[in-house]
Amino acid sequence: MRTPFIAGNWKMNTTVTEAEQLVSEMIEKLDEIEGVEKVICPPFVSLIAVNMMLRGSSIKLGAQNMYFETAGAYTGEISPLMLSELCEFVILGHSERRRYFGETDEIVNRKVKAALANRLKPILCVGEGLADNEAGKTKEVVHTQVMAGLQGVQPSHDLVVAYEPVWAIGTGKAASGKQAADTIGFIRDILAELWNRTIAQDVRILYGGSVTSANIAEFVSHPEIDGALVGGASLKAKEFVSIVKQTAEIKEKRSSQ
Ligand code: PGA
Repeated sequence: MRTPFIAGNWKMNTTVTEAEQLVSEMIEKLDEIEGVEKVICPPFVSLIAVNMMLRGSSIKLGAQNMYFETAGAYTGEISPLMLSELCEFVILGHSERRRYFGETDEIVNRKVKAALANRLKPILCVGEGLADNEAGKTKEVVHTQVMAGLQGVQPSHDLVVAYEPVWAIGTGKAASGKQAADTIGFIRDILAELWNRTIAQDVRILYGGSVTSANIAEFVSHPEIDGALVGGASLKAKEFVSIVKQTAEIKEKRSSQ
């Protein structure tokens, strides 16, 4: 059985003060919810403060990016070694990084390897853009991104994959549960082919893209979908708590059926 997983990607939002405020608004309620792995990913500058606030709670911390070298003359970059003292997870290959910061599949691949080598669990993001979606190329794009992102990576249960169609991110136009479940099933098949079926059955695969408390049920009701990577809605304490709570309830119901 895979533990359901909800991560909040705060993106480039919140000052340190605001991050502390947001954590204080959600920590107690989130902490009470069992049966879901709960992760928040604030900006780098807030990681230390949030790490201290989360100590002793069941909520885990993730970063939104990192460089692939461990240390050295890379002005302005943050290394996996630095993050490993603070975080358990790191989001890699987010479509915004691919689009605005020129991250290629090769860079993402190096980052995945560097994360695992430093005991960080990667949340590898993949997903097609609108044009590819409309041209019926979703599977082709996702296949390329998964294969390239994981090239030479040893099989690992620590990997989390997030399927995030680019056209659904921040647009309010989420994919349907069925669309997401189809592509996620396909990603699991790729993992089975690349690694093996046993590991593929253990890897959590999330949906991301305009997830809210109003549509989370549609996604997590599918057994294939293990949870969500939540952007905008993770910046509102009530919304995020509701998303985690609904996931816990729905997955619990399914597992006792
Ligand atoms: P969104 O972002 O929920 O605001 O669409 C999701 C993401 O980019 O991870």
